[in-house]
Amino acid sequence: MTEKRAQWGSNFGFIMAAAGSAVGLGNLWKFPYLAGKNGGGAFVLIYLLIVIFIGFTIMLGEMAIGRHTQLSSYNAYQKINKNWAFIGGLGVLAGFIILSFYSVVGGWVLNYMFKTVIGGIPTDTAAYFGSFISDPVLPIFWHLVFMAVTAIIVFKGIGGGIEKSCKFMMPALFIILVIICIRSVTLPGAAAGIAFYLTPDFSKITAGAVVAALGQVFFSLSLGMGCIITYGSYLGKDENLSKNSLIVPFLDTLVALLAGFAILPAVFAFGFEPGAGPGLMFITLPQVFAKMPLGTLFGFMFFVLVLFAALTSSISLLEVTVAYMQDQHKWARTKSVIVLSTIMFLMGVPASLSMGIWSGFLIFGKNIFDFLAFSSDIILPVGGLLMCIFIGYVWGIDKAVDEITNGGKISFKLKGLFTIMIKYIAPLAVVAVFLNALGVLKF
Ligand code: PHE
Repeated sequence: MTEKRAQWGSNFGFIMAAAGSAVGLGNLWKFPYLAGKNGGGAFVLIYLLIVIFIGFTIMLGEMAIGRHTQLSSYNAYQKINKNWAFIGGLGVLAGFIILSFYSVVGGWVLNYMFKTVIGGIPTDTAAYFGSFISDPVLPIFWHLVFMAVTAIIVFKGIGGGIEKSCKFMMPALFIILVIICIRSVTLPGAAAGIAFYLTPDFSKITAGAVVAALGQVFFSLSLGMGCIITYGSYLGKDENLSKNSLIVPFLDTLVALLAGFAILPAVFAFGFEPGAGPGLMFITLPQVFAKMPLGTLFGFMFFVLVLFAALTSSISLLEVTVAYMQDQHKWARTKSVIVLSTIMFLMGVPASLSMGIWSGFLIFGKNIFDFLAFSSDIILPVGGLLMCIFIGYVWGIDKAVDEITNGGKISFKLKGLFTIMIKYIAPLAVVAVFLNALGVLKF
């Protein structure tokens, strides 16, 4: 039986859902450590430039494709031009890949949230993190819980599940983040962290750092895999797409920047290393909270914040695949959610085990977890590149603009910029970054 296509209750609901998809572990976990590793302010500057020029363009392109076709990504491409449906297929694949490892990290967050309150995180946080993630059972249990919560929200549908939960979780997240930022920047000794974060060290800007920034923009804005196409497909014709595609990246970037202010000054204030890498959130921060007055409270609030961010993203990842099964194979939502979340849970199990007992199993020199994360870093920019070519040369700029302006009824001041970006600059930038990576990273 086919179900009637859902719509967002309001444009605000759409923005919360899209910003919810964008704001996630990418902002809170990855962005601060990438900035910490790649020269602080210099990395932030490059990141901002890529968001402004490429992020905005691709987000708008995806919204236009989704709303025009009122279909999720595979079927959306297919409807416009059959030969290009594979781009949507690639996106569905990316949904599986990303959610399987994303949910494992979501499980870590749940564990840390509970552990902060019950029993506390042991003082040797590095040893604790290592033994927790390599445990064969506990992280998988939390991964299951995280996936189950994701599935329940998606099961409740667009309006009653995704929109409703994002309208609650996103503002809550923002408030908690601001409180933690204030706490962090007012700690004695925080100034050094603020300076590090804001002063660009251009010597750290290597080609590798630019590649990292580009990959991060795609991942953080949920671009290149049809997520925004899918969310856009539930939008009504009179919503202003160009405005929405400025607001969503703005909110996402704001949260990423604030996350840096929440984390880096505190790290400096207590004399830790900002370049600690992926362990920054799970190893360094618990030590920071342990030394902070009311640290348990702030630690708990912080992990609730991260949990909300991760959930509003994981539901969008699941929705991409669920909407595909609904549109293409006419599956009911219930069946799609149960079957797909089970598959993704199972895919996440080896990813979790690869941190411990399966760590010796390598694909191209990477363990399963890193390999999944690495594949998504490639698929998303490639998906974005193909989307630009698709809009610029297959569907045609005029048709996209017609959709964005709803047949000329809505003004679109950035039309010139959008055209140049989508036809030339964005695709060339992605190709340039890849070519660089081939030489610099030698993979
Ligand atoms: N944007 C999310 C984050 O930053 C991750 C994500 C990627 C979500 C792609 C959906 C699609 O955590």
